[in-house]
Amino acid sequence: MTTYITTPIYYVNAQPHLGHAYTTIVADTYSRFRRLCDAPVRFQTGTDEHGEKIVEAAEKEGATPKEYVDRISAMFRETWPVLDVKPDRCIRTTDPDHIATVQRILSEVHERGDIYFSKYTGLYCRGCERYLTEKELVNGCCPDHKVPPVEIAEENYFFRMSKYQQQLIDHIKTHPDFITPERYRNEVLSFLSEPLEDLCISRPKSRLTWGIELPFDEKFVTYVWFDALINYLTGIGYPDGEHFDEYWSVAEHLIAKDILKPHAIYWPTMILSMGLPLYKKLHVHGFWNVDDTKMSKSLGNVVRPRELAAEYGVDTLRYFILRDMSFGLDSSFNAELITTRYNSDLANDLGNLFSRALAMVKKYRNGVVPQPGEPGELEAGLADAAAIMLGKYRREMNGFRFHRALADVWAFVALANKYIVACEPWTLAKDEASATRLDTVLYSILESLRLLTLVLQPVMPGAAAKMGAALNVQEGDLASLDSAGNWGGLVAGTVLVELPNLFPRLAAEKQEQPAGKKKKGGKEKKQQADRADDAFVTFEDFKKIDLRVAEIISAEPIEGSDRLLRLQVRAPEERTIIAGIAEHYRVEDLPGKEVIIVANLKPAKLMGVMSEGMVLAAKEKGDGGDRLLLSSVDGKITPGSGVA
Ligand code: MSP
Repeated sequence: MTTYITTPIYYVNAQPHLGHAYTTIVADTYSRFRRLCDAPVRFQTGTDEHGEKIVEAAEKEGATPKEYVDRISAMFRETWPVLDVKPDRCIRTTDPDHIATVQRILSEVHERGDIYFSKYTGLYCRGCERYLTEKELVNGCCPDHKVPPVEIAEENYFFRMSKYQQQLIDHIKTHPDFITPERYRNEVLSFLSEPLEDLCISRPKSRLTWGIELPFDEKFVTYVWFDALINYLTGIGYPDGEHFDEYWSVAEHLIAKDILKPHAIYWPTMILSMGLPLYKKLHVHGFWNVDDTKMSKSLGNVVRPRELAAEYGVDTLRYFILRDMSFGLDSSFNAELITTRYNSDLANDLGNLFSRALAMVKKYRNGVVPQPGEPGELEAGLADAAAIMLGKYRREMNGFRFHRALADVWAFVALANKYIVACEPWTLAKDEASATRLDTVLYSILESLRLLTLVLQPVMPGAAAKMGAALNVQEGDLASLDSAGNWGGLVAGTVLVELPNLFPRLAAEKQEQPAGKKKKGGKEKKQQADRADDAFVTFEDFKKIDLRVAEIISAEPIEGSDRLLRLQVRAPEERTIIAGIAEHYRVEDLPGKEVIIVANLKPAKLMGVMSEGMVLAAKEKGDGGDRLLLSSVDGKITPGSGVA
């Protein structure tokens, strides 16, 4: 069945953060998953560019609203490919087809008699861009923005929202899947148990000009929410686009709990007034906090997804946010959690399974997929478990329970690892009489990996592509759960391709083994002793690091990053180094400082800028956050002098 999935269109008064990334990655994962179920899919995201908030943000930057929205909306569009997110359209509310659609719908709803002109005095919250009811206030303030609303009396146009209240209640009651998870459905029903007021849908131009003009009164512009919600129709060509009916009949909206009311009340009543069928589903997720605190610019704890992707890899980021948040509930982000998940789930469980399997096939069968013999009990068990995993995965992914889908997949990863331990291919390899048995075991492991690659594609497209390439399976052969999801799809005789370590353990990690992990046997003790040696670097190794004194010539912030600064240094030649010190040093204090750099670190691109080295600094852990001090030398010295 066709799928049409949307994210909210994001306000351009802030740059993309973890919350925006989460919703959009979920939508991307879902659309990739639905394609894997052979469904034609359309996935839309975009930016919400009109209204007072945007004018205010543009003014702060001394830009016109148009210049401003062009700049920030581009940041959103540029973020998605970095996160491996591939929408079919990034709609903007300033797009000409959207403006035309909003005006068309306003005219239609007006002609139906569902819009009227009236005077209204109400309590207006600029942050919410809407009137609040007395009931909503907490100690006289907006519960979200913590400021008292302003009383505004003006003449405006109103949409007869109340007229559709009962129809909406009936629909929600007869369609249990209309709003999920259930807690949000209950919240909406409880809100609808009180009489609805009509919705003010205009702003006089005397107060705001940055908006879509009402087609029936040029003195007014459209209220942002009435404008924004319509994007879901514009993007599929309302009313007579080629695929409009096909997509609209299956529309699924994905949002967080903050915008439940506009999506569960304003929007369905607007749709009813237009005479269209209601959207199919509203999926509501919780909020990402950071270290258990609300993410906010003023607290300086905003997490930027591009930085996370640069630090941990985009596949790790996607896996982490989908695995760690129970869809519908709030979750808290911190760097330790992502590192732990990476090391335990990706490096240990999946990465090891993969590299062990490929290494054994290389060693015992020259890297060629063997022809399996008769399956024994263990193989039959593994194949059954794979089929069960695939079934659960489908169900949970279709139900937006990504964390559970991934838990099921990882239970299978664990089983495949156990299967290796139980079969001991290394023992079978010692005995020629066990050759067929070894073929069967190796084949079963590789086939498990093929099925894992298949189901991981929507979540970790990059890693799955590498896994597929290592198994030498063509992309087209992993395009459908139905055709590729049966045990036995891997073709004997296929030559495997060597894969660099899929998930190398994070270099800086000093994690303990997670509790409850296996006891150490003799072999592991030896490995541990080998690792103890690894704890030292030889003098030869140390000499390879080119440590030098560098003088900072200039420093400037990097757009889109709260943490990084771009430093121009002399050492003695001039070079650019990106340093994560923005929270610890003011740019104006840096020029003239002499610091120590690693001059021969492999250049790497950070936030689109090539960094040619690393600045050394000391880091002190503290409750209130880390303290970071740049390393230096005990007096003036010529830039470029070596450090030994
Ligand atoms: N422009 C409106 C939406 C109009 S849709 C017709 C808007 N924009 S927003 O920029 O504020 O985006 C809100 C959405 O961003 C949330 O519903 C959610 O999808 C995402 N998130 C923003 N902060 C978030 C978290 N801290 N955690 C999770 N998602 C959050 O509202």
